[in-house]
Parts: sequence; C-alpha cells; structure tokens
Amino acid sequence: MAIKEELHSITKSIFYIKKMKTIFRILIFLSVFKSFGQESEKFVADLMSKMTLEEKVGQLNQYSGEWAHTGPVTKDGEKQTQIKKGMVGSMLNVTTVKHTTELQKMAMQSRLKIPLLFGQDVIHGFRINYPIPLAEVASWDMSVIEKSARYAAVEASAYGVHWTFAPMIDISRDPRWGRVMEGAGEDTFLGVQVAKARVKGFQGNGLGSTDAVMACAKHFAAYGAAVGGRDYNSVDMSLRQLYETYLPPFKAAVDAGVGTLMNSFNDLNGVPATGNKFLQREVLKKQWDFKGFVVSDWGSIGEMIQHGFVKDNYQAAKVAIEAGSDMDMESRSYKNHLAQLVNEGKVDSKLVDDAVRRILLKKYELGLFKDPFKFSNQKREDSQFNNPAHRKHARDIGAKSIVLLKNEKQLLPLSKKTKNIALIGPFGKAVAENLGFWSTSWPDDASLIVSQFQGIRNQMDANSNLIYAKGCNVNDSDKSQFNEAIEAAKKADVVIMTLGEAHDMSGEAKSRSSIQLPGVQEELLKEIHKTGKPIVLLINAGRPLIFNWAADTIETIAYTWWLGSEAGNSIADVVFGNYNPAGKLPMSFPRSEGQIPIYYNHYNTGRPAANENETSYVSAYTDEKNSPKFPFGYGLSYTKFDISNVKLSKTILKSENDVLTVSVAIENTGNFDGEEVVQLYIRDLVGSVVRPVKELKGFQKIFLKKGEKKEISFDITPENLKFYDDTLNYIFEEGDFEVFVGNSSDAELKSSFELIK
Ligand code: NOJ
Repeated sequence: MAIKEELHSITKSIFYIKKMKTIFRILIFLSVFKSFGQESEKFVADLMSKMTLEEKVGQLNQYSGEWAHTGPVTKDGEKQTQIKKGMVGSMLNVTTVKHTTELQKMAMQSRLKIPLLFGQDVIHGFRINYPIPLAEVASWDMSVIEKSARYAAVEASAYGVHWTFAPMIDISRDPRWGRVMEGAGEDTFLGVQVAKARVKGFQGNGLGSTDAVMACAKHFAAYGAAVGGRDYNSVDMSLRQLYETYLPPFKAAVDAGVGTLMNSFNDLNGVPATGNKFLQREVLKKQWDFKGFVVSDWGSIGEMIQHGFVKDNYQAAKVAIEAGSDMDMESRSYKNHLAQLVNEGKVDSKLVDDAVRRILLKKYELGLFKDPFKFSNQKREDSQFNNPAHRKHARDIGAKSIVLLKNEKQLLPLSKKTKNIALIGPFGKAVAENLGFWSTSWPDDASLIVSQFQGIRNQMDANSNLIYAKGCNVNDSDKSQFNEAIEAAKKADVVIMTLGEAHDMSGEAKSRSSIQLPGVQEELLKEIHKTGKPIVLLINAGRPLIFNWAADTIETIAYTWWLGSEAGNSIADVVFGNYNPAGKLPMSFPRSEGQIPIYYNHYNTGRPAANENETSYVSAYTDEKNSPKFPFGYGLSYTKFDISNVKLSKTILKSENDVLTVSVAIENTGNFDGEEVVQLYIRDLVGSVVRPVKELKGFQKIFLKKGEKKEISFDITPENLKFYDDTLNYIFEEGDFEVFVGNSSDAELKSSFELIK
C-alpha cells in the first residue's frame, strides 16, 4: 500500500513537472513571439518613416514577369527601371534562382533596398505536379493533402518563390464552373479541414523558415457561386448563406495563420469584391482581426470600371484602397493614381500606411530584410530537381485520389498476368493531359511525366501484351481512328478505356454549359462495348462530368481526375490492386445540367418529394430525378465494409460544454485489406431558420484488414450544432437532431438526440 502511495505521489510530481515545463515553454514562445512582433513592428515603423509617399505606393504595386496567362498585360517596358527606383513591391510569374536573383539585385539598387516579394500560382505542385486540388480532396486524408502543399513549398521555395497564390478555398456547387478543379468541392465542413491542411502545408514551420512559402487564401469571397457557373459572373446571395457556407474556409485559413488573402473578380450583391469594404474591412480585418494583407486578383481593381462601379482607374484606386485591397496585381491603378489621391486629400494617407505596413511586416516575417537572397541558392534549387520523395508522394496521393464508381463484377483489380490488355482512348499515351490546368511551372519535359501507357505497361508481366489505340481525339468529330481501336479491343482479354476532358477544359475561364464527355468519346466507347470485351473505364477530368450512358452500361468505372506527374503509376497501382481505392467524391455528380446547382445539404422545402417518382406539385422536375447520379461522399473499394450498430452515449445533450459520443461498428467483410471513410451527418429537425436535410459533421478514414472489425466514435458538442440565425448570430438552439452514419451522404444508419440549454 505504502509503495503504491509513493508511486502515486511520484507520478503526480512527474506530471506536475511536465505540466510546468509545458507552461514554461508556452510562456517562452509567447514572449519570443511578442518580442518578435515588437521587433518587426519597430523595424517596419522605422523604415516607413524614411519612405516617401511614392515609395510607399510602390510597395502596393505588383507586376507580372514577361508572360501573361490570365489577362492582358500593359507592356510599359520599364518594369526594371521601376524596380530599381523602389516602385514595385512584388512580382509574380518570375521563378528560378537565376531570374529572381537578377530582379532582387535590381531592387537592392533602390534607395531603401526593400526586397521584392516573388509570388507564383503553385496550385498543385511546382515542377512535380500532384493531383489537381479537387482530386486530392477525394482522398479525404488531410495528412497527405498537407504533405502535397508542404512538398510543393519545399520545391517552389528552392526555385526562388516566396509566396503562392493558394490554397483556393472557394466552395462551389456548380460543376459548370471550371475552377471547381482548384478547390475542395461543395461542402463547407470538408472545405474547412482542407483549408487548414493546405495553409499548414505551405507555411510549414512558419514564415521565416527557408522552405516555407507564404500562402494566399483565395478568392475572397463567394467566387464559386457565380451565377450559372459562368466564370467571373456576378454573385447574389443572402448574408446568412455567405457566413454559413462560403466564409468558414476563409475564417479557418485566417485562424491557421495564412499570410495573405486574394480577393475575387465577382461582385457580391452588387459590390465588386475588390471594392467591398464590408468583406475586407468589416469581416476580414475587423471581425476576424486578420493581420496579413490582401492582394487584388489580376487587374481586378481596374475591372471595377467594366463592372460599372467606378468610372476610371483614378476612382478605382480610391475605392479599392478604402475597401481594404492592399496590393494591386497588374492594374496599375495604385501606381498611377494613389499618390495623387493622397496629395489631393481624397484618400487618407493612413490607409496607404496601413497597407504598406501589412506588406512590409510579411516581408520581415519571411526574413527578406535580413537576407533578400535567402531563397537564392542555386545548389538548393538543383538538389530539388525531381526529388524522389516528392515523386513517391505524387504517386501515393494519386492513387488515393482515385474514386471507384462501379465494379459490379469485380473486374478490378486486374491480374498483372492478363495476357492481352488494350489501352484505348486519347489519354493513353498523352503526357501533359495528366497534369491538368494550373501546371504552368512544369519544365516542359515529357520524360518527367509518367503516361498511363507507361505506368500500366511497367506493372504487367513481361509476357503480357499492352496494345494501344488512341481511338479519337478529346474534343472533335473525327472518327477515322475508330476501326483501329475496335481491332485492338478484339485482340484483348480486357479493355481499359481512358476518356475525359483535355487539361485546359476545366480551370480559370473554362466554364462549360455542357459537361458531358466531349467530342466523339462516348461514341467510341459504344463501339468498343459492342465487341463484348470487358471494359474498365477511366475518366480523366477536372470537374464532375455527366456520362449517363457509360454509368448505366459499363460495369467498371474509376474516376481518375488529373493526377499529375505520376498519373500513370498511380492509375496502374489501382488497376492492378497494389492500392485498394478508397477515394470519395467531394462533389455531387449530376444526372443532367438542368439539376445544377446540385448539392447534398439542401433544404427540405415545404413540398419535398417523397420519392424519385413523385412529381405532382412537389419540389421536383417532371423530366428528371432530384438525386445526383453519384452522391457526395460516395466511392467504392475492392473490399466490402459493413457499418452497423450506431450507439449514442446519451440522448440528451445538455449544456454548452456537454459532449455526446456516437459510436459505430465497422467490419471489413470482403476479400481485401482496405480503407473506408466513415462519415457522420446530422440534421437539425426544427430551427428558427430552416436547416439542411443533412450536414457533414465528422469523418474518419480507417484501415481494416480483411475480416477485421473495429468500433469508432465521433464526439458531438453544441458547438458543432451552431448556425447563423436570421440576424447573423452564431447560435445553437434547443430541439431534436438526427444523426446519420455511413460511407456517403446517402448514409441511412440513423439515431437521434435532443439538445436542451
Ligand atoms: C487570376 C486568378 O483568378 C488567380 O487565382 C491567380 O492567382 C492570378 N490570376 C495570378 O495568376
């Protein structure tokens, strides 16, 4: 007994010492942080006291390097002279140690030697490309998503990049909008997790580490809700919708320490985002206390003229600075008019000072004042070329991003010994198509991308044959290669058809009114199907496509998106079963364009249809079902998982700090080891504003060996049940809730509880 007591007291003291140590560490961290904060503020204040108004405006001015891929560049031919005079704060589209060093040396010739900040669209990798962002989200695996951002930062920073214009965290429910490929899909809860993971990944151990790039959460705000899915179009929505659905990923990014935000091209409720005081000053800088800076989107300050919001660039500069746009990307409105506006007393100089201070503080945090050339190490750049660890990651996350949509007769995985496989379709030997949009920094060297043909061939037995036929182009009406493809299919035991969208069919300015398989690809598929050969269909795309005939007819379908530099290997890993697919759709896949916008967390309406066939005076289409073709959260595995026995730790959740635990059993009842993403949704049955029929509130990706069974649990607190009421208070309300657990948003396993205050 005495020994027991002594042990207990020793354990207690150890615990106490450990606790004190942690508190001590936190205190040291806070004081270092505080003194760093004071130091940087002081440095910047001193510097600013020496700056002329023109030099201050220069810091707010950002130019592009020589090429312009997203808008017209005014060639004024004197960017270098302006850099030398300290009239440029940042450059985009200038990368590599060689080029960034050249320009940084010019900045060092300026009076105050303020270093340039180099920004770049590092969207899904830099030289090595990872799957497009939407594809990665299908992995529902935050650690690998974070790792992609981390590796992209390690590589890009070695090539002189300080700042990436990522992550793009616009929620979108409209697959006609080409930019869904850059985001995290339709769901806010998932979008929040992804935003945090990507910011953390890019910024690594914090600005100041040589391999961190400053992140930029974009596009603030609601860009993904463009009317009709047409890029750059207007957005009109209630503030409640804005707060509840579109802003949370941005708030999460700010809380995760994101250095910058980019505003958006759209107008929101009649006010262009770039000139939107409510968004940038009230919400972002006041309510959220954001300390970083906001960069405009490309030319968006000047585009307020076309919006019909201002009459010229002079007025645009005034409106934008007053609204809280700190840096002007390529419109030159600040450079040409801001000093004049201040001198005329039309713009308060404090606004310019605030913007300059925010930008200089970030340069300070990045360590650029101490060493403007800290990202200019040629050896480091060389050492990052084709980094094998990064390539391995690209391959892994590529496989994790694939979503198995159908595998009715368990045709997949194929045996590597299959005697004759035919690979048919325009993506078979394509190279750049695997990268998708926003792959502007890849070195234009086909040997650095693994084609699907190569990846599949590499894993087949030496004695097996891989027959290839292109069959058709991605998007034209030419059928002259059909016969060759049919002959190839006839010789094969299995056909792998690889169809989809070309790399530039989804992305910025790539909205499509029809999102069917383009060109004659579906006709080719029908011809090959007539041969009676078993078909594995791979769909390569940057958005959810509509492919109803194939979805109804072809028994085996995998959605392979655009998977990046290792696409061929990732696909082969799934096709041959080295990796058992576990991807889940981050967006609902519509049956027809007429259903768009389509999303799982809609309201019930006053006249919900009881089933898919009921159409009379209920909220339904007379010629189309309400349900999507494939729901949000859906995706199959080579094995089978049974989820059962949902249990709640209590049926009443009482106070603010109360916790309710939902547990379920999950069993791998199939023939393969594998992973499943168990998803938890809730429904608030009655609210002071109507609530969605289901809302994702938790998910866990778990691995189970075949035959293995586990119990997993999720905690629900009143905090998880909060929403914005009609006067924008973020509250929870008493009432009844339903809980659903399953492996897609169709989850039916259900229980319920009550929340009382
Ligand atoms: C326009 C795009 O909207 C934005 O996302 C991108 O970062 C800039 N161009 C710079 O390329």
